[in-house]
Amino acid sequence: MESLESKTRFCFVALLLISLVWSQLPSSSAQQQHEPNPTIRTMEDFSGYPIHEPGQFGSISLASSLSVDAPGLQKQIEELSSFSDAPSPSVTRVLYTDKDVLARRYVKTLMTLAGLSVREDAVGNIFGKWDGSEPSLPAVATGSHIDAIPYSGKYDGVVGVLGAIEAINVLKRSGFKPKRSLEIILFTSEEPTRFGISCLGSRLLAGSKELAEALKTRVVDGQNVSFIEAAKSAGYAEDEDEDFSSVFLKKGSYFAFIELHIEQGPILEDEGLDIGVVTAIAAPASIKVEFEGNGGHAGAVLMPYRNDAGLAAAELALAVEKHVLESESIDTVGTVGILELHPGAINSIPSKSHLEIDTRDIDEARRNTVIKKIQESAYTIARKRKVKLTEFKIVNQDPPALSDKLVIKKMAEASTELNLSHKMMISRAYHDSLFMARISPMGMIFIPCYKGYSHKPEEYSSPEDMSNGVKVLSLTLAKLSID
Ligand code: GLV
Ligand code: MN
Ligand code: MN
Repeated sequence: MESLESKTRFCFVALLLISLVWSQLPSSSAQQQHEPNPTIRTMEDFSGYPIHEPGQFGSISLASSLSVDAPGLQKQIEELSSFSDAPSPSVTRVLYTDKDVLARRYVKTLMTLAGLSVREDAVGNIFGKWDGSEPSLPAVATGSHIDAIPYSGKYDGVVGVLGAIEAINVLKRSGFKPKRSLEIILFTSEEPTRFGISCLGSRLLAGSKELAEALKTRVVDGQNVSFIEAAKSAGYAEDEDEDFSSVFLKKGSYFAFIELHIEQGPILEDEGLDIGVVTAIAAPASIKVEFEGNGGHAGAVLMPYRNDAGLAAAELALAVEKHVLESESIDTVGTVGILELHPGAINSIPSKSHLEIDTRDIDEARRNTVIKKIQESAYTIARKRKVKLTEFKIVNQDPPALSDKLVIKKMAEASTELNLSHKMMISRAYHDSLFMARISPMGMIFIPCYKGYSHKPEEYSSPEDMSNGVKVLSLTLAKLSID
């Protein structure tokens, strides 16, 4: 497989050289206008696909000259997964930890090797740019994240970062020259693991003043380490009085943004399709809740005299499920992913409980109704169980995002030109694209993943599927960059 690819590449480069030499030779204008160039014809017969004249990239001929180094990409996926705080095949890579810093260094090295100019902002969003022939035009951007929730897999986000670098390499190898610059973004902390804030980097890039303010003072992790302290330990937020509004990007900074990602659901695999063209991203929300009761001895305090904060949390978790199901739509989902009891001893009645609730829907109003019902239940349960509802905080309540029509068209065209089957689909997971859509026309390319598994170690996408995704990404970037 590898040797076949390298032979094909060798033949292609040889043919390109021949055509370059030929193009320097004098030829009659009549021949240029009416007869196909005999060398090109011979090359096409030999290679079995249309050959472009140097510098004359129709997108069909560009499509046929895109060659992905699939084994190389798979190797990089494996290497990046070794920067993990969980044993293989699990990956745990949390924001600003040593492993995150090492993984970032690995990606920056690959960007540099790809000939990109690399810069970072105050929270560690990393940008790698390939200057186009008209660098003053808004660039076309692509990218994703490399942080990984505890005990997850190797592909979530990573495919959109390493795949983007490979997409640039693919375009460079093909001889393509962009007009608009192409820029890769590695977003800081798409996952909310450490500070409870999802899409922290892209939310900030999109200009969230509220977040910029909060990061200066109020945001701490579970160990009470402040955001600023953690960011400094990773080499970011270096200025005293760091003003995170320096991270904001102006609307229109990018001509388009495209994210390549594994589907994280089973549809493409079930239907035997190569590519998902994302038309919209569902609306996510997250909520933190705390109850406080009296606690006490598990043997000595009799049942009528208890104010059990743990049971209040358990009852609220069941209420979340009930309210989600009451929406009667398969698109409404709700999860209690964190449930902590204090002091956490078998023979101690929980005096405090802490829950974190995630709820989403493609219909924002319906999702908001669920949030309202959860809040009402939290009050009712607290009253009934005589515990205090010490916190009910809606951490984020984001609207959905729509992909841009032109970007959708280019992604679909790219798939067709590459002979890849595709369908339009909705993303039920959130992505940095949800926030990039606030400042740029946005689109997403999905590739199949094994049984739709994600956020667990069994997450897998085949080299062939990744290679297809990279090809669609490169061709879409190329199309948009000459638009
Ligand atoms: C992203 O990781 C999500 O939870 O959708
Ligand atoms: Mn994820
Ligand atoms: Mn992701």
